[in-house]
Formats: sequence, structure tokens, C-alpha cells
Amino acid sequence: MLCWIVVAALFGGDAPPGELPPEAASRRIEELRREIAHHDELYFRHAEPEISDSTYDGLKRELAALGEAFPALAGGLSPADGLGDDRTGLFPTYRHREPMLGLEKTYSETELRVFLARLARSEGRDDLPFVIEPKVDGLAVSVTYEKGKLVRAVTRGNGTEGDDITANARNLRRLPRELRMNDPAGGPPPESIELRGEIYVPFADFRRVNEEREAADESLFANPRNLAAGTIRQTDPEEVERRGLDVVFYGFAACEPASAAPATQRELHERMRAWGLPVFAAIRTARNADEVWSAVQEVGRERANLAFPTDGAVVKLDPVALQRRLGASETAPRWAVAYKFAPERARTRLLAISVQVGRTGLLTPVAELAPVAIAGSTISRATLHNSREVARHDFRIGDTVVVEKAGEIIPELVEVDFATRPAGSRPYVFPAACPVCGTEIAAEGDVIRRCPNPSCPAQVRGRIGHFASKAGVNLPGLGPALIDALVARGKIRTIADLYRLKPADLDSQGTGPDRTADRLIAAIAASRQSELWRFISGLGIPRVGEAAAKVLARRFGSLAALAAAQPANLIADRGSAVPGLGTAAALSVRDFLADRGNRALLAELQEAGVNPAER
Ligand code: IVH
Repeated sequence: MLCWIVVAALFGGDAPPGELPPEAASRRIEELRREIAHHDELYFRHAEPEISDSTYDGLKRELAALGEAFPALAGGLSPADGLGDDRTGLFPTYRHREPMLGLEKTYSETELRVFLARLARSEGRDDLPFVIEPKVDGLAVSVTYEKGKLVRAVTRGNGTEGDDITANARNLRRLPRELRMNDPAGGPPPESIELRGEIYVPFADFRRVNEEREAADESLFANPRNLAAGTIRQTDPEEVERRGLDVVFYGFAACEPASAAPATQRELHERMRAWGLPVFAAIRTARNADEVWSAVQEVGRERANLAFPTDGAVVKLDPVALQRRLGASETAPRWAVAYKFAPERARTRLLAISVQVGRTGLLTPVAELAPVAIAGSTISRATLHNSREVARHDFRIGDTVVVEKAGEIIPELVEVDFATRPAGSRPYVFPAACPVCGTEIAAEGDVIRRCPNPSCPAQVRGRIGHFASKAGVNLPGLGPALIDALVARGKIRTIADLYRLKPADLDSQGTGPDRTADRLIAAIAASRQSELWRFISGLGIPRVGEAAAKVLARRFGSLAALAAAQPANLIADRGSAVPGLGTAAALSVRDFLADRGNRALLAELQEAGVNPAER
């Protein structure tokens, strides 16, 4: 019974999962696992999430609740309870001396107090000493110092083994290469110590980088975390510095000699500060649940003044001996818990639902809203993800809706205020035809809707725009307006057409003096010499971003060799046949190459003199 109450509370009154028939539960578990795996891949491997953290956490909690209600169906509940995997294949990997775990998360005062009460009960006292820290929204890093010198920086990876990003980490703004050895407050650092912290991008740098990208007509980073993750996982250390990545430390793992390890979390912070490492300006302490809760709320109030993005507070037991005794589960320590802040919400009117056509023909419904201020900006559009999400929430034009925005992320609609729904409103019907070219829409499963017409002007514009972006060969002179005009006039249908453009084709587009046109033609011609990965990434193969494109460039060495790849060169019995490339990406490349139109495009590119090789 208690379990049902908890479950019902989690779902805000929806039918508890325990009431679902087992077949429906089993289907939903499967569906959630697939969806979570998909979002894990986007988040961890590509640093390009499609949904907000709170929606993602909602999926994981629904799966966990179903797992509790149907233990028989829940065998091997991964990936819901796993940690994900952010290894890229671009760096040598390194095995952590102690695993990098996640944190158990709570989302309400009650959940947090349940955790604290359990801890007090298991220790038989209710005056346990706690430390409360901000929860930084970046990516975890493990940094090892030996004899005070920085020797290694490694990402979390799968928790056991991560990417060795030492060269990139050396360019983090405040990461010292050497620790201060003689500060009396810190004493000499241990012979060797593995420190744990978070790499992040300060808000000011996030805004600056996006402003620069906007000016250069490049796609924007949805939030500071994506910018940090996307930058640290690429192989140009200078970019780390240019984009202002920074780090802050909050933990330690392996330490030699063991006797040199700090005895409390507070001591750790003080000593790290004395060694010259970046740490939180202030941490809070508490001795019971009430004090913990007020400290957590203080962190919430302080958030707006912090330079780094936060998504919660972390409550930790202070004495290291106690931490050690309590130990950890497979995924999280038992002596710490995260409290996640609720994202900011606001109410507004849903004026219309428009449908965007992506470069792969993917149709995304977008909410057009009466402008509303939230989390420091004015929102007039929000993603609705897909037709199923619109149907699930029953969003209708004219509804009053709740919009959610956490920090700097892309806003999303979370619910309808049914009480104020206007009489006579109708459920939203997804269009049957592409809003741009009128072709009948194709359904892929329950969720995905695509315009199947590869010549749809929206897709053509999207593909060319992607190829010309920094993710491709980087032609800043070829902006959206010019692409629109060239596509409308039939001057370009494919990226190969770019290499056949003449100054006259551009002239009549009103691009100004001839010199602009000449310069663009010269830039397009020069792009023939771009690095191979830029062409591969610029092709816009689903699931092949910069990282995967670099792996493919290294593996195949030339566009011709990639074009000639056989399915067996990409997919083996047990998944991807390309080391460092994920199976989903390998399947996507195989499908791309199997398509006649794509083969023709690759041939045309080569005919147009584009045949870059890996240098
Ligand atoms: S302690 C074994 N402290 O949050 C203890 N983690 O969601 C685990 N994080 O993997 C880490 N701020 O990347 C800790 N003050 C903080 C943190 C923090 C952010 C991250 C860390 C962790 C993740 C869990």
C-alpha cells in the first residue's frame, strides 16, 4: 500500500503503475528503456540532449516505479539505473583507481527527509554532521596529482574507465598544473591523490560563445552543460581556453599514503583551497534534517549569484570514516544525496502549434506562445518534441499551459490547465502533409513523423545549411537567406551543386558588390581542401556528429574509401565493426551508404573535385 502511495505521489495522481495490466507494464518498461537509452546516447555521447533534465528524470523515475511495482518484469533494469557512458573513442581511455559513481537524487523535501531519516536510523543517532554543497551542472572529471604535479585528467566514462583528456584539461581556466606545497593551512599534498570535480562553463562565457555563434550564423548551444561537454570531448585544447571552460573540486578518491587523506569533507575543502585548487566559495554545515533543509534552500537562493550553473544541492556526511563505513551501492554512495531544484515555470497561452521540418525530414511540433518571462528571458516558443507528446498531454490551441525552463535550457511545455480550457476546443491533429512541400507524411513507429520527400525545400535548405556550418566545411558567407534564395531559384539541390556555382549565380541574389560573390566562390573552392571529417560530418548522416566523423575519417582515410565501404566494414556480428564508433552510428552509416541517392551524391562530390583524404 505504501508503495502505491509513493508511486501515486510520483505521478501526480495518474493511475499508479501497479494498476497497469502486466502486459501494458511490460510494454511500457520496454518503451522507457529504449527511450532512455536513446536520450543517454544523445546526452552522454553527443552532448546534444533533445529533452530537459527534468523530463529525462521523469522517464527514469517512471521506469524505477514500474520496476518496483513489477519486480518480475524488471530483471536487469539497466540503463535506468546505470550511469551512462560518455567515452567518445577519440581519446585513450584510463581506468579510474576508484570508480566514479553518481548520486541518489531527491526531488522534494519529503524525499530528502526520507533519505536523512534512513541514515539517522541506520546510525542510531539524529545529530549526524553534514556538509551541503551546490550541485554543479557540468561534467564530472577525475584529476590526479602526484608529488603536487598534475599528471592526468579523466572523464567519468562508464564509471570504471573514462577518456584521458589531460591535454584539454591543462587549458581549463583555473586548473593549477602544480599544487602549492607549503601553505600551512593545507600542509603538503599527498604523494598521489585522485581529486573529483566538475568541468563547467560560467554563465558569462556561455552567453559570449552563443552570441559569437549567432553572429556567425552557427547553431547555438542549448545550455552551458552542452557547451562544456561538447568542448572537452573534442580534440583541440585551445578551444577549451577560448570557450572559457573551468573546473571546481568537491571530492577525492584514491590517496597515497592513505594516512595523508583528509578526515572530513570540510577538511578536504580547506586543504584543496590551500593547495590552490578552485573550490566553492562557501559550503554549509548542518546537524539534523531541519538544518539540512534550510541549508539546501539557502543554496537555492544563492544560485542566481553563482558564476556556474547549478541544478541542485548535494548533502554529504562530513566524516570520511563514516563515509567509508557506509560505502556505496553499484551506482551511488550511501553517505550522500542530491536534492534537485525544480525548474522555473510560468503560465501562458498556447496560440498555435507549428511544425518544423528538419534536414532529415523529421517533423517537430513547436508551441507558439503568448510571450512570457521565465528564468531571466522572454519565451514565445517551446518544443513539443513529437506528436505523441502533444497527444499525451492533450495540448490544444487556446489552452493555458505551463512552460518550464531550467537555467539556460530550451523551454518546454509540461502541462495544460484543464480548468481554464475554452469551450469547443479540439484535440490537435498532426498534419497529414508536409507543411513545406505538401508531400504526404510518413510515420515511423508511434512517434516519429517524417516528410519522405528528399527534395523538400526545407530539407534541402537544412542539409546545405548543415554542410556550410562549423559542423561541416564552415562557410560563414553562406547564410540562411542566401541558401533560401539559391534553393528557391533551383541553383542548388545538393551540396555537390555548391561546387558548380558561378559568381553570376550569386550576383542576382542581391549579395552586394561582386567581390562578396567572388569571395564566397573562392571560399567554396578552398573548402575542397577541408579536413575529411568536416565532409563526413557535413553530410548530415543521422547520429554522425563531429566525434563520429573523426573516427570514420581515421578509419577510412578518404571520401572515396568511405563511399566504397561494404556493410561488413561497418557492422560485424556483435555490433559496430569500426573501433570507437557506436553501433547505432555504424548502422546509420551503413543505411546512408545503401541509399542510391546518397551514393550518387558522393560520386558527384568526387566529380566536383572534392576528394579530401585524412591528413
Ligand atoms: S559528489 C561519490 N558533489 O553530480 C560522490 N557531485 O548526479 C559523487 N556533482 O557524478 C559526487 N556537484 O558529476 C558531488 N558538489 C558535488 C557535485 C557533484 C555536481 C555531479 C557529479 C556527480 C553527479 C551526480
